[in-house]
Amino acid sequence: MLGLGSLSSVGVIATAKTKYQSDQIKLLDNPKRTFKVFGGITLRKHASARGILYGAAAREDLLVSNPELATSYAQQCGILVPEWELKWNILRPAPDKFDFTKADWLAKFAHTHGMLFRGHTLVWHEALPPWFNSTVNQQNAQKFLVEHITTVTKHYAGHMHSWDVVNEAIEPNDNRADGLKNTPWLQFLGPDYIDLAFRVAAQADPKALLVYNDYGLEYDNPKDEAKRTAVLKLLERLKSKGTPIHGLGIQSHLTGYETHFNPKKLRRFLADVASLGLKILITELDVVDQKLPAAFTVRDRIVAATYEDYLSVVLAEPAVIAVLTWGLSDRYTWHSTYAPRSDKAAVRPLPLDSQLKPKLAWNAMARAFDKAPRR
Ligand code: G3I
Repeated sequence: MLGLGSLSSVGVIATAKTKYQSDQIKLLDNPKRTFKVFGGITLRKHASARGILYGAAAREDLLVSNPELATSYAQQCGILVPEWELKWNILRPAPDKFDFTKADWLAKFAHTHGMLFRGHTLVWHEALPPWFNSTVNQQNAQKFLVEHITTVTKHYAGHMHSWDVVNEAIEPNDNRADGLKNTPWLQFLGPDYIDLAFRVAAQADPKALLVYNDYGLEYDNPKDEAKRTAVLKLLERLKSKGTPIHGLGIQSHLTGYETHFNPKKLRRFLADVASLGLKILITELDVVDQKLPAAFTVRDRIVAATYEDYLSVVLAEPAVIAVLTWGLSDRYTWHSTYAPRSDKAAVRPLPLDSQLKPKLAWNAMARAFDKAPRR
C-alpha cells in the first residue's frame, strides 16, 4: 500500500520529469542549426558512397496498396526488412503449416529493385501464433525451434543479407546471473537455446550474416548500462563457445527529448562489440516525438538533431555496416499506436513525411552518411 510519503515522492518525480523534458527541449531546439545537404541524391546513395547500407522496414500490405510509397522505398532503400511478415504469427497459421506468401512478395520487391533483403526474426517471445501456448511445451520446444529455423532460413538461403536470429533475449530486470529474459524459449530449453538457434541457422544458410538484435542499449542511464553489460557478456559467451554469430543489431528507437546520451560510453560499447570480431547494424532507427512541442518546425528540428547526433557517433565506428529505419514515411509507423501524442497530432518519427516528402530528419541522415568514414 502507498503511504503519504510515497505519494508525495511520486508527485515530485512527475514534476521533475516534466521539467526535465522541457529543459531538454530548450537545449535541443536550436533554430540556428541548419541541416543543409548537397548532391540531390537518395539516402541509399549517400550511405553507399561511404560503403554503408541504408534501408527500412516495410509491410507488404502497405506497399501493395500504396504504389507511391513503394516507389519511395525503391528510391531510398538499399536494403529491406519485413516489419511483420517473417514473424511466427504471420508465417505459421497452424503448427504444421508455413505461409511465405507475404514475405515472398517483399523478397521479390527487394530483388526487383536491386535491394538486399534481411530477415527479422527467427526467435522472439512476442508475435507468436495463437496456437503457440497450447501446443509448444518442454518436450517438443526443441523440435519446433529447429524445424522453424531450418525451414525459414532454407527458404531464403543464399538470398538473405542477414538474419536477426534471436531478438530481445536480455532483460537484467529478470534478475538472472546470465541476464537472460525469462521467455518461453528459456523456460523450455534453458540458456543454450540461443547457441542452438545460431547453429541451426548457420547450417541452413551459411551465407547470411547472423545477428543478435536488441533494444535499450543507446542511452546513459542505469537501465541501458545494465543492458549493455549483459548483452556484451552474452556476446562474449557465445563467441567463446564458437557459436556462429556475426553481428549485433542495435534497434535504436530513440527519444526526441532525451539528452542522457553519452557518445563516449556508446563508442566504448561499440568498440567492445567490434573487438569480438562482430559487425554492428542499426536495425530499427526512429525518433519518438510524443512529448515534443506540437509545432512542426520545432518538432522536426529536434527529431533531426537526434538523428544526426546519434548517427554521427555510431557511424564513427567502422564495424557499423548498416542503418535501417523502422519504416520510411510518417504515414505508417508503429509509434502512431505505441507512442501517440496526447494532442492527437500525427507523429513524425521518420525521414519522410506523410506526403512522402523528405523532412529535416532525412537531411540529418544524409549529412551523417556524408560525414562518416569510408568502410
Ligand atoms: O495480425 C493482424 C493483421 O492480420 C491485420 O491486418 C492488422 C490490422 O491492423 O493487425 C495485425 O496485427 C498487428 C501485428 O503487428 C501483426 O502481427 C498489430 O496490429 C500490430 O500492433 C503488431 O505490431 C508490430 C509488433 O512488432 C509485433 O509484431 C509492430 O507493427 C512492429 O513495428 C513491431 O516491431 C518490433 C520489432 O519486431 C522488434 N523491436 C521492437 C519493434 C517495435 O515494437
